[in-house]
Amino acid sequence: MQQDALFAISNGLYVLSAKDQNRYVGSLVDAVSQVAIQPNLLVVSCMNNSYTKEVILKTGECALSVLPADVNPFVVANFGFQSSKTVDKWKLVRGLEINGNMYIPQSLAKIVLKVTDKHIYKSHTLFIAEVKEAFDYRNDEPLTYKMYRDEFKNKVMEAFERYRKTGQVPSEINNQPKGEKTMEEKKWTCIVCGYVYDGDVPFEDLPEDWVCPLCGVGKDQFELR
Ligand SMILES: Cc1cc2nc3c(=O)[nH]c(=O)nc-3n(C[C@H](O)[C@H](O)[C@H](O)COP(=O)(O)O)c2cc1C
Repeated sequence: MQQDALFAISNGLYVLSAKDQNRYVGSLVDAVSQVAIQPNLLVVSCMNNSYTKEVILKTGECALSVLPADVNPFVVANFGFQSSKTVDKWKLVRGLEINGNMYIPQSLAKIVLKVTDKHIYKSHTLFIAEVKEAFDYRNDEPLTYKMYRDEFKNKVMEAFERYRKTGQVPSEINNQPKGEKTMEEKKWTCIVCGYVYDGDVPFEDLPEDWVCPLCGVGKDQFELR
């Protein structure tokens, strides 16, 4: 069957977020691909009935959180099984707000996107979007669509069923793991010499030719740690 063969194309799973007038919205997406490097362009495909898509059409801005393989199943259920039309998803799953975007704190990477083009088809809208920033990278295993279909989906459905019956979000979901730094506690740190940036100007706003005052490497050699 053609659909089965197409399952051989396996993407990761991501939370796509956008800012509505007075709140953040978000949707689980798998249809994301990097399609150019100069500039860095991603294609993000949204179903036409997605509310997140509506908001991105209006604002032209969105952000991605790359989900890790050990993400709590309720996160996937929250963003994939219900619509922001009726639910405030970021009230159920605590997000991390950074420079006007909302992210899943435990994500493997956080990516800021600006839409440069769109193609509207019968079922989906494709956004071509330029990467404005990609940060907080962690080299761990990502959750793939294949993992989701093969083994994870049942856990996600169970988590959603439990939530629907009890109205309770799993307690562990919004707890910070012991000893782990919050994003607010993390500092931009030079991965070459260990220099920790502590200036008044936000690190993101430093000019592109800014260099580490200790060892002279560029901004791209800094990580949030
Ligand atoms: C595994 C999985 C993958 C999904 N992939 C996409 C996708 O690539 N694009 C999309 O628009 N919706 C996708 N969805 C569906 C949306 O997450 C879902 O319709 C969501 O409720 C939309 O929320 P919203 O109305 O708040 O935007 C996926 C759902 C699941 C469970």
